[in-house]
Amino acid sequence: MSEEKHLITEQHRYLPDPDMAQSTWVGDYEAAYAAYRADPEGFWEKIAHELHWHREWDRVLEWEHPHARWFTGAKTNITYNCLDRHVFGSRRNKVALIWKGEGDEDERIFTYRHLYIAVNKFANGLKKLGIHKGDRVCIYMPMVPEQIIAMLACARIGAVHTVVFGGFGSAALNARIVGAGAKVVVTADYAVRRGKSIPLKHLIEEAIINAPSVEHVVVLRRQTEQPIEIHREMEVDFYELMEGVDRRCPCEEMDAEDPLFILYTSGTTGTPKGIVHTCGGYMVGAYYTTKHVFDIKDNDVYWCTADPGWITGHTYVVYGPLMLGTTVLVAETLPDYPTPGNYWSILEEYGVNIFYTAPTAIRMFMKMGEQWPNEYDLSYLRVLGSVGEPLNPEAWEWFHTVVGKKRLPIVDTWWQTETGMHMITTTIGSPMKPGFAGRPLPGVAADVVNGNGESLPPGTAGFLAIREPWPAMMRGVFGNDEIYSKYWTTIGNLYKAGDLAIKDEEGYIMVIGRADDLIIVSGHNIGTAEVESALVSHQSVAEAAVIGKPDPLKGNLIKAFVTLRVGHQPSERLKNELTYHVRITLGPIAMPSEIEFTDSLPKTRSGKIMRRVLKARELGMDPGDLSSLDE
Ligand code: WTA
Repeated sequence: MSEEKHLITEQHRYLPDPDMAQSTWVGDYEAAYAAYRADPEGFWEKIAHELHWHREWDRVLEWEHPHARWFTGAKTNITYNCLDRHVFGSRRNKVALIWKGEGDEDERIFTYRHLYIAVNKFANGLKKLGIHKGDRVCIYMPMVPEQIIAMLACARIGAVHTVVFGGFGSAALNARIVGAGAKVVVTADYAVRRGKSIPLKHLIEEAIINAPSVEHVVVLRRQTEQPIEIHREMEVDFYELMEGVDRRCPCEEMDAEDPLFILYTSGTTGTPKGIVHTCGGYMVGAYYTTKHVFDIKDNDVYWCTADPGWITGHTYVVYGPLMLGTTVLVAETLPDYPTPGNYWSILEEYGVNIFYTAPTAIRMFMKMGEQWPNEYDLSYLRVLGSVGEPLNPEAWEWFHTVVGKKRLPIVDTWWQTETGMHMITTTIGSPMKPGFAGRPLPGVAADVVNGNGESLPPGTAGFLAIREPWPAMMRGVFGNDEIYSKYWTTIGNLYKAGDLAIKDEEGYIMVIGRADDLIIVSGHNIGTAEVESALVSHQSVAEAAVIGKPDPLKGNLIKAFVTLRVGHQPSERLKNELTYHVRITLGPIAMPSEIEFTDSLPKTRSGKIMRRVLKARELGMDPGDLSSLDE
């Protein structure tokens, strides 16, 4: 590994280790990108040909700004590519999933055949409950194999899954169930965290009180010795549902443009947006990026630490790696429990080759110290990855030196729930620059632009935007085409990512943060307004404004400014009560770390709270243009 100072931009630049240079793209990123530019549709068509289709497309792309249709006329089912291809090909008995729990003995292994049978049976079970193509199914589960089985079973019969991260509370869950109009909710009795069982099911009971679309709740009972009670009028046990059904459930032949899933992400308005992805284009994008960005080989063990409740889990725990026939590790564990060496011990034990995690985890590893990874044999590792937030150069260097032994490539992948797939990264074999995610992947026309969509010169900060449609782009925001259209109409006719970025002379892109009001806490998107609404729902609160404050560990922490209703006095006790209130309504990830009571909040003349003014005051920065501030 050689290291050199880049003269023009004065940043660190690492050349790839020649021994590692066995990737598909080594040395020819430029050629691949040029091939894409020369014939964008041909580029994607070639990739699509590597997958199974029940019927091929008439046209690769129909683009009527801002609506795209990819692989029109084609029929497919993503689970055919995730399961049948392997089971009726050469990977029938290959390990598909390794599940690891907190205890030493907590391990479950599924071959592709096991997974295939479980998915087929659960799919038939869903049919028994009256679920048909197009119906929505909400999955609210801990990170257990059944979570993945439920997702794939939905996809198999054409039901649209909407997975809700198990850390959300009942109000957030209710909003998502109602928003999607889910007919069935799949859940579990409890999740496990730090040796404790965290009951989940009562949250479902609360969440469905005002959710008239829900007809059935399927409950996975992990506790078998004293199983929780099933209320038969509405509920059914996960495994009982799989009894007495056929072991085969033929794939529903889905139109390429039929919806595959809805995944809620918090927007600037605070109302969660149901991002809609489709069967054909998402499949091609997930497959292509998983294959090339991680350079997965057939013998690899692959571990992405994300929960399938986030987009990273959808694309890079479930669909992408399974399409490639990969052995996927899923761990329902934390980096620091039972010891700060937990992740390293798992990497050693399973001989993990590809390790994909988040900056917040990397910062936690740094904090706990390098003696922990140094205790374990990490020599199986070949590729390291990061996603979710900017990976600060300090954390990059640490990951590269301590875990990668200055040898391994790091793929810092920039993308979004809306993009469905990786968009920007440093492909294996290209020089790496800490702090920069990298260049747009071949197939992706990303750029840094001004407000009119004009390309900005290197070194100038601007909006991160995508100039042209790509197959895995979201097709809509469920039930709200206006919000969808805004993504493509705010900056000229480009896709606006909502992030600010800077490009360097070589086209490497550094993402510097969100341009809007999302706060990214420990890699999770939290909408300011969602937290504010939760606070305001407390009887003592009149108004609340929430900002993100940079935090070395979590990326950001949440600070809330709260004005109280008459008759209520600020107190430490009330702070605790409010924090607890957010925990109960939205879940622990959305809890404010700081609460400040204030008499008033800065607002625009039209009455909108100006969070950037609060943020500037808090951080001692220039608040910028104050002409709209109402004094
Ligand atoms: C941020 C997660 C810098 C970014 C896949 C984006 C990143 C938002 C990176 C999307 C990265 C994600 N470098 N920032 N490598 N990856 N982001 O929808 O602000 O949960 O817009 O998707 O996370 O978050 P989402």
